[in-house]
Amino acid sequence: MTKSLNAIAQKLMEPGKGILAADESEGTIAKRFAKINLPNSLDLRRDYREMLFRSTNAMTNYISGVILTEETLEQSAADGASFRAILADADVIPGIKVDRGAFPMPGDNGEKITEGLDGLRQRLERYAALGAGFAKWRAVITINDVAPTRNNIRANAHALARYAILCQEAGIVPIVEPEVVGDGDPGNHSLERSASVTGEVLENVFKELRLAGVDLSGMLLKPNMVLPGVNSRERPTYEDVAKRTVAVLREHVPAAVPGIAFLSGGQTDEEATAHLSAMNQIGGKPWPLTFSYGRALQNVALRTWAGRRENFPQAQAAFSHRAHMNSLAALGTWTGEVDRAA
Ligand code: 13P
Repeated sequence: MTKSLNAIAQKLMEPGKGILAADESEGTIAKRFAKINLPNSLDLRRDYREMLFRSTNAMTNYISGVILTEETLEQSAADGASFRAILADADVIPGIKVDRGAFPMPGDNGEKITEGLDGLRQRLERYAALGAGFAKWRAVITINDVAPTRNNIRANAHALARYAILCQEAGIVPIVEPEVVGDGDPGNHSLERSASVTGEVLENVFKELRLAGVDLSGMLLKPNMVLPGVNSRERPTYEDVAKRTVAVLREHVPAAVPGIAFLSGGQTDEEATAHLSAMNQIGGKPWPLTFSYGRALQNVALRTWAGRRENFPQAQAAFSHRAHMNSLAALGTWTGEVDRAA
């Protein structure tokens, strides 16, 4: 079993490919739709995901896996073809978000704890039977005057480890996602603070993963990049961000991990691509680095689609372009000129 977990992880990290995070919860997709004045209906959610999954160019060339939700794992396109069959045709591995969301942590520190462990073993058996090759669980770490607390970091790391070992037991590769979120106060969330908190979080996560007996060669890490908070006035260069992020990862992520796939976390499309490419220009890393983006892959495609099936071709072209640019970034060969020329 260990060998096949590692084989799935390697396939997800195939050079020049990355993961599409299309696992927005109903609440999150409602927010994305509201921005373009669309209601959150079942049909629109299905159409939107169908548009993405039927982007043949993007899916066959640049995407190795898609993170689905419970709804989409069993959903079909308007013509009745199941999403799983559509992904299989493109040789894309279906994954599943299995956490049940981040909820307020007891105490007054503004922190969150991710829920969803109860009954997870049974749910994972079902997802495995439906063909899910990997899963995702997102922990949210907050930076403010008093946070993150050691208590919150430990609780989230422990939940990630419980989730990861249950996945491996079910033959599913766990993507372990501890996200240090970027919307802290400007005074509290400098590049420096991001680096130290990200390092502390990763240290705790790997300690818990080892304690739980997780096979590090059969998982992937999905971290945030080391960035100043969104309200900070600091403007590090792409190279600064790349160097700090790789330095923190080198210090805290064991070489046994077969790959690291970043979240985009509210960066602009170009920033998310440029940072990944700059990191991949740094030599001598023990693990490959790629993308597992939600917003930074979907922003333009979502606006272009605008809720209309007749816009599928243009929206798919927009999505394919973004996926192509991030594929170049995964190879360390992206440039702003190539991006804008297309
Ligand atoms: P973003 O790339 O939009 O941050 O989403 C990735 C993800 O899966 C967050 O859990």
